[in-house]
Amino acid sequence: MELVINKVGLKGRIDIPSDKSISHRSIMFGAIAKGKTTIKNFLRGDDCLSTLKAFQDLGVKIEDDGQIITVHGTGFSGLKPSINAIDVGNSGTTIRLIMGILAGTTFTTELFGDHSIAKRPMNRVMGPINQMGAVCSGHDGTEFPPLTVTGTKSLLPINYQMPVASAQVKSAILFAALQAQGESVIIEKEKTRDHTEDMIRQFGGTIAVSGKEIRIKGPQKLIGQEVTVPGDISSAAFFLVAGSIIPDSEIVLNNVGLNPTRTGIIDVIKQMGGKLTIQETGNKENRAGTLTVETSELTGIEIGGEIIPRLIDELPIIALLATQAKGTTIIRDAEELKVKETNRIDAVANELNKMGATIEPTDDGMIIHGGTTLHGAHVTSYGDHRIGMMLQIAALLVKEGSVKLDKAEAISVSYPAFFDDLNKLY
Ligand code: S3P
Repeated sequence: MELVINKVGLKGRIDIPSDKSISHRSIMFGAIAKGKTTIKNFLRGDDCLSTLKAFQDLGVKIEDDGQIITVHGTGFSGLKPSINAIDVGNSGTTIRLIMGILAGTTFTTELFGDHSIAKRPMNRVMGPINQMGAVCSGHDGTEFPPLTVTGTKSLLPINYQMPVASAQVKSAILFAALQAQGESVIIEKEKTRDHTEDMIRQFGGTIAVSGKEIRIKGPQKLIGQEVTVPGDISSAAFFLVAGSIIPDSEIVLNNVGLNPTRTGIIDVIKQMGGKLTIQETGNKENRAGTLTVETSELTGIEIGGEIIPRLIDELPIIALLATQAKGTTIIRDAEELKVKETNRIDAVANELNKMGATIEPTDDGMIIHGGTTLHGAHVTSYGDHRIGMMLQIAALLVKEGSVKLDKAEAISVSYPAFFDDLNKLY
């Protein structure tokens, strides 16, 4: 599709779409809890709809009246074998987290997804889940989907030092640990998003977290709850960057979730010299706020270490931000980017460089030379929603030529109303 180019003075207010991570989990927790769970502000993007459909396939009654989703949970033991193989679409969160839930069933489930899913590494989940007693295997003896998961009623607890910083892996182990006989201990490599831990507590379970160490006893029974999903900071990120780099802009973003394990991009924008104010609207358990961002002069910085998991999904749009800053920005410790929906290090460097940026891909990140002027080009999202949205924000800076984006439809994975929201800004 032809992207919008050459914009100045982006002004207006946007209701940020609901958080993808929390939407997935709200269906999952609703399904494994006993009783009714209602979900307000569920994200009806392709990924979360894959999770909803997956649990319907597993026999869970889930209704959507267009406003509220109601999940009639019957506990872990109420899950039933799916008649057909479960299609997770493009969703890594669905396939990885569901493996932990299926680990405690008494049946075998087959899971498959699209082209991208067929290349996502799964040993990181299969390893610990198999160690706990389930039997998971990939296609033709590989670690890649299609996968089968055969659960067991007698799951063992695990003592696990995580080799990767991954909330998806941690969450899969937590779902299995909730069904195991005894106490599991998980030690994170770096602290990652903690929505699963929060929701275990919210649904009446117990979990002890001390720094990077998590202790959880099984088996536990969870109880259905009322969940209201906040706006997704990972979707807000595109407008936070647009507001910072498009001249004469001021954008207000309503209801953005501000869980501290997700707010790395706020720290980065501030550290680069961005003008960003936060008016907190949530409470201590569910932090949220209204963010206002204005155009500003930015300076390159170094981004690495513990902050990486707090902004892992925002690195493509942060790379664009850095192309407009003074000086060089170095992103390191972000090798996980290579195994996302696409290789995001190569995708960002290839596509932005086609538009005139100067980005050097490295083994664990990129070196971005700032102060570049972008021009028209024919680019692709590689079927990755976040690459697609980043390229549309980049196109806004283009003064001459046109920007044609292939595979733009991927954007509906996390932000179906992205172009409508962009059009609301004047
Ligand atoms: C997610 C965790 C992250 C993130 C993904 C969603 C989650 O993946 O990139 O978009 O909801 O747990 P990893 O935990 O594998 O880094």
